[in-house]
Amino acid sequence: METSVIKKPKGKIEVHPDLEALSHRAASIFVNTSRNSIEIKKRFTVAISGGSTPRRLYTLLGSEAYRHQVDWQCVHFFWADERCVSKEDEASNFKTAFDTLLSRVALPDKNIHRIKGEETPDKASRVYEEEIKRFFGESEKLGFDLIILGMGEDGHTASLFPGSKSIEETVRLAIPVYMGEPKKDRITLTLPVLNNAAQILFLVAGPSKAAVLSEILGDGVRKRGFPAGLIRPAHGNIIWLIDQEAAGKLRGLRSH
Ligand code: 6PG
Repeated sequence: METSVIKKPKGKIEVHPDLEALSHRAASIFVNTSRNSIEIKKRFTVAISGGSTPRRLYTLLGSEAYRHQVDWQCVHFFWADERCVSKEDEASNFKTAFDTLLSRVALPDKNIHRIKGEETPDKASRVYEEEIKRFFGESEKLGFDLIILGMGEDGHTASLFPGSKSIEETVRLAIPVYMGEPKKDRITLTLPVLNNAAQILFLVAGPSKAAVLSEILGDGVRKRGFPAGLIRPAHGNIIWLIDQEAAGKLRGLRSH
């Protein structure tokens, strides 16, 4: 099956046959974006997400096929969100990235800026904010070169959930999200930080995402109710990499 593309203002939607093809495309975008940033700024800052969809991307980047294409000494890893668990916990977004990628490449420990999920949600969010401010210095320079996001069936992204107050945050860079027992609380980057990225890369796969994706990428007004629909980088670009199943309800696809 071919890849289909829809051009949108400030971005595009690419429909790939399956998660494997989508993940290889994401890996090449990661490699190219890292090279461009390192050439210009001698560093590349990326904030990554958890969940199941990006796992294949992380595994590919850590594999023989891709790991020699990136100058890991210049790459700085941050997280779009984290669960309030220890870094050894299976639910930890840090652990997912560490096991599949960070432990397989020549990345200096000082380049890993993880969210300390083992702390209380409030303390973890404040410590992370201080780390981001310390790393970027004055706020106007605060902009990730790349942010990798996923999307839940309810249209959430990072840990910004539909109807939650966290969507309205305009001052803080990272905030706690209280999920209510038995779910684990979370820490998330806020919309202003996400929308200040130079490049946003959404990875969305599977039939369970088709309905909400057609709302978000359609022209209807309902998309505003979905946090993933509020991701609009102010000065940056957005690429939606989706698989055929997730694209099941999209209109206006043209084969490329
Ligand atoms: C998390 C993620 C979250 C994720 C979506 C999609 O910590 O869970 O950051 O926002 O991207 O829930 O998850 P899947 O990829 O597993 O569908």
